[in-house]
Amino acid sequence: MTDATDITRQTLAALGVSTAADLAPHFAAVRAEFERDAATITDDATWKSLRDLWMGRKSGVLTRITDNWLKPSPPELKRVVGQELNQLRAHVEQRLDALQQTLAAAAESQTLARDRVDLSLPSVQRPLGSPHLLRQTFAEIERIFLSLGFRVVEGPEIETPYYNFEALNIPEHHPARDTMDTFYLAMPPGAEPRLLRTHTSPVQVHTMESQQPPVRIIVPGKVYRRDNPDATHSYAFHQVEGLAVDTDVTFCEFKGTVEHFVREFLGPTIKTRLRPSYFPFTEPSVEVDASCFACGGSGCRLCKNSGWIELFGAGMVDPAVYGFVNYDPERVSGYAFGLGVDRLSQLKYGIDDVQLFFQNDVRFLRQFS
Ligand code: DAH
Repeated sequence: MTDATDITRQTLAALGVSTAADLAPHFAAVRAEFERDAATITDDATWKSLRDLWMGRKSGVLTRITDNWLKPSPPELKRVVGQELNQLRAHVEQRLDALQQTLAAAAESQTLARDRVDLSLPSVQRPLGSPHLLRQTFAEIERIFLSLGFRVVEGPEIETPYYNFEALNIPEHHPARDTMDTFYLAMPPGAEPRLLRTHTSPVQVHTMESQQPPVRIIVPGKVYRRDNPDATHSYAFHQVEGLAVDTDVTFCEFKGTVEHFVREFLGPTIKTRLRPSYFPFTEPSVEVDASCFACGGSGCRLCKNSGWIELFGAGMVDPAVYGFVNYDPERVSGYAFGLGVDRLSQLKYGIDDVQLFFQNDVRFLRQFS
């Protein structure tokens, strides 16, 4: 098969063309050849060789037509050859442009298809945290006492022996100091000793030093003792101290407040019992027991068959404590309590190992979110 453009290598005279009518089929053949070529274009490279083949300055088909057909034509033919050539050139240029645009569009849709983002795919799941069970227990305790008119205050975790012991009526060599194995801070020689508070009770003293009655506060916080960690012990644990002092606070108010708290915290059917006890800073002192919520009081393993569960210590503020803060024991009276948050949380949610609070295993924490 001969290439139709081969005829552009010869002159019109050699092709036997002498009139416009002879000329037309030759241009038609050349144009048809271009169309055949154009139909084979698939990418940039074939497009470029098509362009060079037809538009190349030196030896492109259009240049050959100019050199071999137009220039040597006799004047009567030249005008028609020029017109045909211009039409052919315009057509070739237009087709090449259109082809280039088609190629670019195809390339773009290929890129889009390759980089397609599927917006319906599930996103990366980022697990949400939830408040720690101890936080929730703190919040529950605070809610109950805030509704009774108590205020939440906090105090330092590093204390002096005066606030942690003395002003709470626990003088040096008092046996109560031994029950609270204390972390003492390493201090330069001669400096006043410092310790990690063993209970939140020192905040009672700070508060009464800075404020006159009426005082109704609760003190949530961390406390520290040199205990070996096991299912019921940890060297850091949590308390909420409570203190109410006013001119006419009675034992009756104390008992009513404690009973209200227990019912709100554990449930409306729970009964409360006050059992005589001893704390240096309260007189009388009591242990607050709740009727066993597992067996209803008939006796089971949880209450060791007693029907009662020990909840926390409390009592009427010992007048000796007022002496340390310049309150007049003849004029004011009050009560205090010390809630063990870890213990109350364990009881309420049935957690038999306190270490679970500190391991932060999400499988444990998630159960209470
Ligand atoms: N501070 C005591 C302790 O940690 C708990 C306590 C008992 C606090 C009786 C009180 C109270 O305020 O009245 O062992």
